[in-house]
Amino acid sequence: MTKRIFSGIKPTGHMTLGNYLGALRRWVEVDQHQSDALFSVVDLHALTVDHDPGRVRRLSRQAATLMLAAGLDPERCTVFVQSHVAEHARLSYLLECTATDGELRRMIQYKEKGARARAAGESVRLSLLTYPVLMAADILAYGTDEVPVGEDQTQHVELSRDLAVRFNQRYGHTFTVPRATHPSVAARVMDLQDPLSKMGKSHASTAGIVYLLDDADTVHKKIMRAVTDSGREVTYDREQSPGIANLLEILAACSEGNPKDLAGVYESYGSLKRDAADAVVELLRPVRERHAELAADGGHVDEVLKRGAERARGMARPRVDAAHVAMGLLPG
Ligand code: TYM
Repeated sequence: MTKRIFSGIKPTGHMTLGNYLGALRRWVEVDQHQSDALFSVVDLHALTVDHDPGRVRRLSRQAATLMLAAGLDPERCTVFVQSHVAEHARLSYLLECTATDGELRRMIQYKEKGARARAAGESVRLSLLTYPVLMAADILAYGTDEVPVGEDQTQHVELSRDLAVRFNQRYGHTFTVPRATHPSVAARVMDLQDPLSKMGKSHASTAGIVYLLDDADTVHKKIMRAVTDSGREVTYDREQSPGIANLLEILAACSEGNPKDLAGVYESYGSLKRDAADAVVELLRPVRERHAELAADGGHVDEVLKRGAERARGMARPRVDAAHVAMGLLPG
């Protein structure tokens, strides 16, 4: 049987180099060729934090356009917007009745984002707590075997596994138990100005974040200004030299190399930065160019998303219906 793959990206900010190296590039180069794959702009997840409706709408379209620009081929895989397929929210409720509040309160992202909001005197949306259950629904609705993600999503995928196993034990076999897969390098790209934090699209300070749509000059400047360590020797050591390790990983990911081997090649931080900057600019150039072409023809992207949603609905509905019946709800 063909392997089923599901992954998604949430439209909370402009897409970053982290999203590209940690997830999107592999979806394009590997996943869509080896499996029956679905890739979604998971817009419902963008409503878990303070949001501006117009911005979410713009970022959703931009994310879909970038996914196609990067090379996802709608003839090979299914590209769609999560909110167009009601099965995600339908299944999420059933999984809320499977999960416990304790396991959700233990989620690292909830703890971090919740603490940040409370410290700023803001309220925390209930959906920030239940978010990983919706993510489990995204994955389980499709009988997913593999979830290609960056390292930061590991704990969420673990929860999806736990919920699938628990549901199956209680109500009979309904869901495939999925597993996370990660790229061999750059599974966690760090912020160029703060190499101890993940490069995240919703961070307030943008100086350490490379966006896929940044122009070549901006990418160059951001990488040349990356914070490095006080040493001088180029070594690959995430603990002692996180800034240099991050640049080595980025360069390795762009050049199909290995960060440890690359460390031996460089004698100065400056030359490493220059090569990393050039490599990223070249990697992103075709994506940016294709994005400009596709963005000029919004009708095409809308059409792809419409077809994608129809296909996704057809794949999710039987399993989600079966889950309702298994839990004791009367068939409609
Ligand atoms: P999101 O939108 O934050 O990120 C999308 C993908 O990019 C990866 N990623 C990174 N990889 C390496 N380095 C980084 N700095 C970096 N930043 C982000 C993420 O790991 C992810 O693979 N909860 C998910 C979205 C989601 C989802 C799903 C994913 C919702 N439902 C179902 C898979 C399956 C998220 O917030 O990703």
